[in-house]
Amino acid sequence: MYPSLHFMKLYKICYTFAQRLEKGLLAALADKIPCMSLDAFQQIQHLLEEIEQAQPQGAEEVEQFRLRFLGTKNILKPLMGEIRNVPNEQKREFGQLINTAKERAELKYEVLRRDQEAAAESAQAAHIDLTAPGEPLDLGSRHPVAITLNRIVSIFERIGFVVAEEREIEDDWHNFTAMNTPEDHPARDMQDTYYMRNSAEILLRTHTSSVQARVMTSQKPPIRIIAPGRVYRNETISARSHCQFHQVEGLYIDKGVSFADMKQTLYYFAREMYGPDTRIRLRPSFFPFTEPSAEMDVSCFICNSKGCNVCKYSGWVEILGCGMVDPQVLLNCGIDPEVYSGFAFGMGIERQAMMLYTITDIRLLFENDTRFLKQFGAAL
Ligand code: PHE
Repeated sequence: MYPSLHFMKLYKICYTFAQRLEKGLLAALADKIPCMSLDAFQQIQHLLEEIEQAQPQGAEEVEQFRLRFLGTKNILKPLMGEIRNVPNEQKREFGQLINTAKERAELKYEVLRRDQEAAAESAQAAHIDLTAPGEPLDLGSRHPVAITLNRIVSIFERIGFVVAEEREIEDDWHNFTAMNTPEDHPARDMQDTYYMRNSAEILLRTHTSSVQARVMTSQKPPIRIIAPGRVYRNETISARSHCQFHQVEGLYIDKGVSFADMKQTLYYFAREMYGPDTRIRLRPSFFPFTEPSAEMDVSCFICNSKGCNVCKYSGWVEILGCGMVDPQVLLNCGIDPEVYSGFAFGMGIERQAMMLYTITDIRLLFENDTRFLKQFGAAL
């Protein structure tokens, strides 16, 4: 029995030992689980700090930073596996922390990469070859309408006309009523325009004649102005007409201004603009704000009056409307027609630019196609 007793004892000892061991292990394991997740949390915290504080210098260190946090074998990957050991209620928080670390690393790397690029660029810039020829500057060119307009304005400036520029958004009075075109006047139909939605009183000016009213109500004669600018009309857009175009207005008011003065002034203009042999022709016409009124033609400078497409084989091209300022317009603007008289004229720019540069479609002037505009680089 002795040996068996011994055996039993041994067995018992072993058994208790095993039991204790198991208990201890279990306890240790039970301890270990929260302990492991705490580690993972701590590790993430440390990594976050590391990302925050990292200051890699130079391309190599930046690459190391990338490999450590964003490479295929980055340090965040194994931590992701740790999520198994994190208690359920903390899994969400743990996942978020890992994501935050990843985002911060990405953000930081992006900044570092850009800094690197900038540094590389400025290093390259430091090696500029000052003897190399420069890049040619794209200078652009004047618009054909601007070229024509400037030419017209400078011709009148030479004989003492002063530029007056005014608003394109006008009121009814300056555009129509003051210019002797009261409401319901049939002449308004010829110049239909765009009105503001909330006020029929405010409109886009239909002609630069509105500047006449602006100047006459704010200046005392003698008045000698030239008013270039954009005007608008409710027209169907085609090769020949547009809803926007440019005009130049002229106005001369003084004591004793006559029709002969107007004719001579316009004759001077025609010769300066179209050459010394240019002839002019005044045809009687009607404008509500001038009396008498005329339309002026110049002898065709394209075919020398022999007959061509531009003058439609008549030898003449119409370029402007003109006349003696109607006494009623002077009265409307507070100028005494018994003391003062004057003449006015208005001309479209696009038509003249088209004739000068043989442009066949007015729409080209408003499309801003640089292939078209570049052709005027040499025309000043
Ligand atoms: N305003 C007129 C128009 O647009 C032109 C014009 C101006 C006529 C001045 C006579 C005097 O058609």
